[in-house]
Amino acid sequence: MDWKEMRKIARSKFRGACRVCPVCDGFACAGEVPGMGGAGSGTSFKNNVSALAGYRLCLRTVHAVSEPKLACRILGMDLAFPIMAAPIGGGAMNMNGALTEMEYASAVVSGCRKVGTIAMTGDGPDPELFLTGIKCLKAENGKGIPVIKPRETDRIIELAKMAEAAGAPAFGMDIDTAAFVNMTKAGQKVGPKTRDELAYIKKNTSIPFIVKGIMMADDAAACLDAGVDAIVVSNHGGRVMDHTPGTAEALPYIADAVQGKMTILIDGGIRNGGDVLKMLALGADAVLVGRPIITGAVGGGMEGVELVLNRMAGELRDAMVLTGTKDVAAVSEDILWY
Ligand SMILES: Cc1cc2nc3c(=O)[nH]c(=O)nc-3n(C[C@H](O)[C@H](O)[C@H](O)COP(=O)(O)O)c2cc1C
Repeated sequence: MDWKEMRKIARSKFRGACRVCPVCDGFACAGEVPGMGGAGSGTSFKNNVSALAGYRLCLRTVHAVSEPKLACRILGMDLAFPIMAAPIGGGAMNMNGALTEMEYASAVVSGCRKVGTIAMTGDGPDPELFLTGIKCLKAENGKGIPVIKPRETDRIIELAKMAEAAGAPAFGMDIDTAAFVNMTKAGQKVGPKTRDELAYIKKNTSIPFIVKGIMMADDAAACLDAGVDAIVVSNHGGRVMDHTPGTAEALPYIADAVQGKMTILIDGGIRNGGDVLKMLALGADAVLVGRPIITGAVGGGMEGVELVLNRMAGELRDAMVLTGTKDVAAVSEDILWY
């Protein structure tokens, strides 16, 4: 399967839920939630893409870096490159039934493992959604990271223990869905968490705890203070609130607050290897990718996921050579043009 064919198949299977645009930037699908778009005017999604486009890379070729190091260690996991799959739930509802929840999770968890990285799996109003992720990661010897909605703290702990029993190397909570209507409509309470509640979850679980959906330096500092192991700088792909900044705008403030004391992951609008390198230069340790991996899974199943990730890793490698960057663990902010 090649790139063009994968995208053509995805476009036809989505039946309009995603147009598979030449640039996935949130314009054609603005307001389509459920669907693949951003909330309201789609501004948060668009800001993710435009914030990244606003940074430019310094092209440097007088150096000796021809074999850059992409392999890295994140939260105790050895990854072939610092790119993971973002958690995606509600396949049937958001993707016009292009794939079942199980087909999606299994393509992504297995595809990621095959290329040497890891997928996060989602949660939602239907409890089956979380369990599907658990089943898929069990099938891959625990190689997956389940992300739990900000439910009541004791329920989060129960689900985290289920993830641990399945062999997961970490678990997450997408705290930015604190006002998610789909959950409340289904009678499942979600809400914001205090610093003490985060500390309570951390204290009562034993695998690394990732808080996903942090956009502010003070929230990042509170997570650090609560003993959280990692944050994902994220606005949920622009799906939870209109008019937030792009994640690449928020990242420098957060990296400054964290001072290397906690792992920083980020997602939102990352579309190629150059975007990955920009996020690393701005202070992230690794990135998550959402919609491009959805396109890969819908267009080519596990093979499509591998295609997307290998292509992005290849572009990252080239961008490292062309900026003189030796190692993904030590990306200088001097590769960004100010
Ligand atoms: C259809 C769809 C479903 C999603 N479901 C979840 C989910 O269940 N849990 C979660 O933490 N994030 C979820 N997200 C957000 C993604 O994990 C990620 O933050 C976002 O897609 C990153 O932006 P990008 O798509 O521009 O790469 C979802 C996003 C989309 C587009």
